[in-house]
Amino acid sequence: MTQNHFGPTRLDAALVPLIAQKWGTPVYLHDRAFIEQSCDQLLNMPNAFGLHVRYAMKANSDRTVLRVVTGKGLDLDCSSVDEAARAHSAGIPYDRMMLTTQEVPLGQEREELEGMIRNGLKYNVCSLTQYRLIADFAKQAGIDLSIRVHPGASGGGESQTRDTGSEYSCFGVHLNDIPTVVEMARDKGLRFTQVHVHIGSGGDPEKWRENIDRELGFVRSYFPDAGTVSFGGGLKVARMPGEKQADINELGTYAAARLKEFKEQTGRALRMEIEPGTFVVANSGYIITRVMDKKLTNEMNFLLVDGGMELLSRPLLYGSEHPISIVGQDGTLRSSEYDSYSVGTATPYGIVGRCCESGDSVRLDNEGTIVPVQVAEAEIGDYVVIGGTGAYSESMSPENYNSHRKAPAVMKMKDAELVLIRKRQVREQLVQNELDVDL
Ligand code: LLP
Repeated sequence: MTQNHFGPTRLDAALVPLIAQKWGTPVYLHDRAFIEQSCDQLLNMPNAFGLHVRYAMKANSDRTVLRVVTGKGLDLDCSSVDEAARAHSAGIPYDRMMLTTQEVPLGQEREELEGMIRNGLKYNVCSLTQYRLIADFAKQAGIDLSIRVHPGASGGGESQTRDTGSEYSCFGVHLNDIPTVVEMARDKGLRFTQVHVHIGSGGDPEKWRENIDRELGFVRSYFPDAGTVSFGGGLKVARMPGEKQADINELGTYAAARLKEFKEQTGRALRMEIEPGTFVVANSGYIITRVMDKKLTNEMNFLLVDGGMELLSRPLLYGSEHPISIVGQDGTLRSSEYDSYSVGTATPYGIVGRCCESGDSVRLDNEGTIVPVQVAEAEIGDYVVIGGTGAYSESMSPENYNSHRKAPAVMKMKDAELVLIRKRQVREQLVQNELDVDL
């Protein structure tokens, strides 16, 4: 049986050569309809006393993605003053943003931050130092604050950077500092109207549920003024077949029950907030690369493609898996890992990029050794499409390594029209900030 669409968005393989011919490879592709569906799903999550969804823009900060997401009614979670400024430059007002950052802005950036806060940006206090720096300004400006609590327990899916709450992580105000911050704020007449915890990305839903219980305990013990409780992001998506996606309805139902219980016990109705990044965009995205060369050796056969770790660093950083599809030059689908589809018998190929790094491959084991992917036979000029790349690919890529130019991005609109949303970098941009000094 033949098939010509693949991946979670049922992408039509015939589009792949069209995109490649028009804008070249490598190229990022985003499916707008899929992003909007994820937004709808999140906005319809069961809740008890209201739900507020913020998109964690670090997942993908492209202005068109931000406009699509905010157009659906999601607000933003920003992780730096620059991120907030970037979103603002896309036309998004500051009162639709919350800043949760490790930064302690000083000097001009501090003034900029104060301007943003005066314009409605919500500030999430993440350390004792941050509290001390913001307190006088907050008092004078008459604003309420949010506080990020370090929960003392992790919830991320893998190690490396995804543990955001254990004793080995530094995010948020640690429990030993909470009584001090609470007392200082009370003495000053400042209110923490929102409590926030983010435990990590892509973890077990059980950890998410445990965090809800734990966080409500913090609210009860320390934060009498809180009207909103944010459970952070971290909702898992299934990028590969067989992976289990977070069940939004189940998690929302659990949260709603706990919040109702909390209301019965304390008389306080808390609004729930979440701030997913991955869930919104991860499976909307693909990277289209082209087979430049093929090497058949006694040990392993390789497909050398024209985009790898400089577009997607997750395999190298976390050993993450992304589904691989092969599309022929004529636009026919030859194989799709996502759909377990192959024309002929799938054979193992190491798929490697063009960076001078042994780990520049889409599939690596824990030691960083290349793991072959089972794909249909591919020839030079065919396309290797990497799926599940809408989140933390463009935003987290070492893009100019080996002086490769940042790849363009295309969005498939709802009427299937293909629109270029970011141009390929030009060579001048690689050196534009460098100065010719006298030597
Ligand atoms: N809120 C805060 C405070 C966060 O630090 C993050 C992610 C999120 C929300 C969104 O989490 P998400 O829903 O995307 O899991 N780069 C890694 C994940 C680390 C993200 C760090 N913070 C990845 O590629 O999976």
